[in-house]
Amino acid sequence: MNSTTRSKPKPKPAATAVKTKTANKTANKTANKTANKTANKTATNSANKTASNSAGTTGAAALERRPRASASRVSSTRQASFTVPTLSLEDGADVAERLQERLISLLDLSLTLKHIHWNVVGPNFIGVHEMLDPQHAGVQAMIDDLAERVATLGAVPSGLPGRIVDQRTWTDYDLDRADSIAHLGALDVVYQGVISDHRREIDEVDDLDPVSQDLLIGQAAILEKYHWMVRSHLADWAGGMSNAGADSELGAAQAVTNKSRSGTGSRSGRSADGRR
Ligand SMILES: [Fe+2]
Repeated sequence: MNSTTRSKPKPKPAATAVKTKTANKTANKTANKTANKTANKTATNSANKTASNSAGTTGAAALERRPRASASRVSSTRQASFTVPTLSLEDGADVAERLQERLISLLDLSLTLKHIHWNVVGPNFIGVHEMLDPQHAGVQAMIDDLAERVATLGAVPSGLPGRIVDQRTWTDYDLDRADSIAHLGALDVVYQGVISDHRREIDEVDDLDPVSQDLLIGQAAILEKYHWMVRSHLADWAGGMSNAGADSELGAAQAVTNKSRSGTGSRSGRSADGRR
């Protein structure tokens, strides 16, 4: 399985002034999480012990063997005995796996768009808030198309929350409540990664499945339009970008925030390759 380029190394970077989470909040959250985890673990262990005792096994063994539905005889995640006509089962499974990765990426993007929609503040609140709803709706439609293509290829699409976290190679979006310009700076980085990954897979499935490739191409065109709408808030008349040079969400948010506070234009931030 290829890893996506929208990857930021887990663990999460430290918060900066752009981010409004407080240290206390984080500490409380961590403490609560730990307490809940301990409580849940204890409850789970007790339940497993009870189950395993009646089955004559140890608690640890029962935990390992505890069946998810997929391991039972009523559900499966295996490739079906069919795929689309003319593709081998192996190629069908390969393409489906690539589309499943794109599915996870777009699910993450759709959640991120709503997160920004809810947490954007400042003078341009309403413009950004309202711009993101159609983008979210568009990405939702792409998600459904991708998932149904995975199923058509004979594989098992999944957008369950645990699968998103397990399969993605990046951490959560880095900003919470923040100014519109900071969110847009960070969202530019998000779209950069998602679109790059879509384009990579367009190349990868070129020889395998033109129908899946066509699906990805159509989605990339729409994603690139959404990206343009975001970038237009960060660009100036000379083509520079106010988050030039930043390669992380937090770094981009910080860069555009600094620029807007200093009141300087963004032309000087244009990078050597002319893109950012
Ligand atoms: Fe809303």
